[in-house]
Amino acid sequence: MYDELIAVHTIMRRGTELTADAFTRLAAGGPVDTKTLASTARWLTTFVHHHHASEDDLFWPLLRGLFPEAVAKLDELTAEHEALDAELGGLTGAVDALTAGQAPAEAARRGTSAAEKVRDILAAHLDTEEPALADLMPRVPDADIARLRKAIVDGAPRSGPDLVFGLLEDPDRAVGHDDLASNFPTPVRWLRPLLLRRYRTRLKALGQVS
Ligand SMILES: [Fe+2]
Ligand SMILES: [Fe+2]
Repeated sequence: MYDELIAVHTIMRRGTELTADAFTRLAAGGPVDTKTLASTARWLTTFVHHHHASEDDLFWPLLRGLFPEAVAKLDELTAEHEALDAELGGLTGAVDALTAGQAPAEAARRGTSAAEKVRDILAAHLDTEEPALADLMPRVPDADIARLRKAIVDGAPRSGPDLVFGLLEDPDRAVGHDDLASNFPTPVRWLRPLLLRRYRTRLKALGQVS
């Protein structure tokens, strides 16, 4: 089950890199479709916010109850979520400016700076969170596993399925890929080839050669 979380984290890490790279390319005058960049960045902010909200609202309360000694660490992770939310707000502001079409060069510069901050702060957060969870999760009693799994599934992605499938597999299958994919509804799994094609089209529109 820990691996499912790692798979979600990998989607987020790769999503922040994709977004920051595309903004950098746009700021340098590269061939980036701004509508595609806006939809990618908006997907990213929603996905990351949703993941953190599910940890704060569903996951951490259970872990706090089971492991009182970990409360301070979990509070620290929640504070990091709040700091990251502020940066996600900055990214949303830059995307709004980009889609408004005024001073696109300035919007691209603003977006690059915001997306790089989101990428770096998220990476540092996950580097703190993953060892803490690797320590706690094996000690969760079996009776609580089902509740934790529900918290993870409830926090799993609902939007941007092409990005979810694509980032899970590009450049290679993430750790926990199979565990996470087994939670997807069967019709969504049937759509995998279509969604991967859509992901490739998105990469092209973002000017990314892969
Ligand atoms: Fe997380
Ligand atoms: Fe987190």
